[in-house]
Amino acid sequence: MAKIPEDVIETVRTATNIADVVGQYVQLKKSGKNLFGLCPFHEERTPSFSVAEDKQIFHCFSCGRGGNVFKFLMELEHVTFPEAVVKVADFSHVDLDSEYRQDAQGPAVDSKTSQLIALQEQAAKLYHHILVNTEVGQPALDYLHQRGLTDETIETYQLGFAPGQRLLKPFFDQRNSDYQLLRQSGLFIENAQGELRDRFTERVMFPLRNASGHVTAFSGRLMQPADNQPKYLNSPETTLFNKSRLLFNFDLARPAIREAGEVTLFEGYMDVISATQAGVRNGIASMGTSLTTEQIYAIERTTDKLNVCYDGDEPGQRAISRALGLLNQHSHLQLSVIQLPEGQDPDEYRQAHGDVAFKQMMTTAKETPIKFQLRFLRRNKALDTDAERLDYVNQVMPLLAQVQEPVELDLYLNQLATEFKIDKSALLAQLKQTQRDVAAQAERDRPREPEKAPVAPPVTVYQQQRPLTRLERAERNLLYHLLHDRNVWAKVSSVADFCFVHDDYQVIYTLAQGYFQTHQTYQTAQFTDFIQEDRLQQLVIELETTTHAAATPREIDDYLAVIMNEAPVDEQLRQKKNQLAEASRLGDAEQQRQLVIEIVQLERQRQANKQL
Ligand code: GTP
Ligand code: MN
Repeated sequence: MAKIPEDVIETVRTATNIADVVGQYVQLKKSGKNLFGLCPFHEERTPSFSVAEDKQIFHCFSCGRGGNVFKFLMELEHVTFPEAVVKVADFSHVDLDSEYRQDAQGPAVDSKTSQLIALQEQAAKLYHHILVNTEVGQPALDYLHQRGLTDETIETYQLGFAPGQRLLKPFFDQRNSDYQLLRQSGLFIENAQGELRDRFTERVMFPLRNASGHVTAFSGRLMQPADNQPKYLNSPETTLFNKSRLLFNFDLARPAIREAGEVTLFEGYMDVISATQAGVRNGIASMGTSLTTEQIYAIERTTDKLNVCYDGDEPGQRAISRALGLLNQHSHLQLSVIQLPEGQDPDEYRQAHGDVAFKQMMTTAKETPIKFQLRFLRRNKALDTDAERLDYVNQVMPLLAQVQEPVELDLYLNQLATEFKIDKSALLAQLKQTQRDVAAQAERDRPREPEKAPVAPPVTVYQQQRPLTRLERAERNLLYHLLHDRNVWAKVSSVADFCFVHDDYQVIYTLAQGYFQTHQTYQTAQFTDFIQEDRLQQLVIELETTTHAAATPREIDDYLAVIMNEAPVDEQLRQKKNQLAEASRLGDAEQQRQLVIEIVQLERQRQANKQL
């Protein structure tokens, strides 16, 4: 069997949510941010097993097992790493080259899921055929052409047309499809007599594909507005289709997202399709509803930069503001807003100005979230009285207080000063005050105890096997922040002769140096594969399962001081005390006297270190 290349493993990982795989074996309940259940690796009555969807890892507080989705299957099914990758690929319907499979047939795939997918894909083919090859489809084809879509785009997205009510049933009957399966496909509406009628009629059909490129549902658009009928009609939720999980175009966009290093989030399918036609291929859209945390986590597994490009109208602006809030709260994604002029949506903009202008706009109209918020907060406001202006300045101060870049901050302050004819030093003074208020508030909000989920699940939290020393706590905390925060990484790398006292942490640190040569961002579930060794993987997972707030520079300095100053002293002290015990056993008075002096000196040094 050939070795599975890292990019293939990556595709499998990003196409999969660990919660779905674990959910096949463990009944999981959400509590706070994580999911909890009974550990499948040992007997227990109260759940100590948790899954963190944002990090894509599992961990059991009781038995200490932990890791990513591959590790979960390796442990549970006693399979090798490549076998686990194959299993997960099949679960997520990622097509794997047969050379990566141990035996030619491959493991059994969940046949009902594949049969349901086959139904959706056959329906998509039929709808597409009707659109491009038949007279019934002609008006719909004209409609799409008129909206500026080329035949190539129509082909790429397998757009289709659903005519009358009795298309799919006879079609599937000819193929002897199973009645129960048809009922569960979401393609039909069932009447009181149990007869199946096409759900989609007189609609332009947009197949919705899952992250691995299989059609799992449809959205159908009316060509003209009609009373009591939604513009877009979606498939109902089925075992295949979960509206809050699906990201439109994620499968096709993924290679482009990797290449560009960023993803662009649009509001509508037509915007995504339009963008693709203009050569902007890294676009995705949620399903009309606001973004969900599941979608955010899926995006985070692929990239670390996201542009929000929503409609230019008022609802679009409010949606941007909402999305920025959500993304800030639930991700570390670096955000930008792409603001199209004239209140247009991206598709309208492309149609009005053409592909080249559209593509250009995707870079030139990019702005920081703060800049967007500054504009957003003053929309619909005349700002022609002092009271209104002061009110606005008060609203924007907390935003400016978050800006880390001095140059960027200065730019905004200058703009405010010039525009509102306010003295810049007065603005600065107010900003300082706001920064102090924000810091004080953060201090008040900081969890005193290790953070607990709001509704504490009945989890038995076992203590770590051994209590950690002050040194080891410092090492763990520092290592955590090193992995997660590029600023901390830069700082520690610049400290000459820094090294961890305990070998395990030093080895992880060294491995991380290799990891960051080929990976831009830190992802726990990916890094654990990279380090391979079981014990070290376990350590890295343990780091993730204790709560860490963002570290202040002061904290980092403290950890460094503990590791670099105290630790060697402590170690010497321990050795000297052992030697002293040995010397007194042997009755070597001179040696004892010498050692006592040295110990006193070391104790003094230790005290001095503590005061740092
Ligand atoms: P066009 O009008 O065809 O250009 O569509 P659009 O992509 O511009 O969509 P619009 O901005 O109107 O809406 C954005 C997204 O919201 C769509 O892509 C759909 O996902 C969703 N949406 C819009 N209208 C409806 C509706 O009536 N029902 C449902 N379920 N979703 C809708
Ligand atoms: Mn539109």
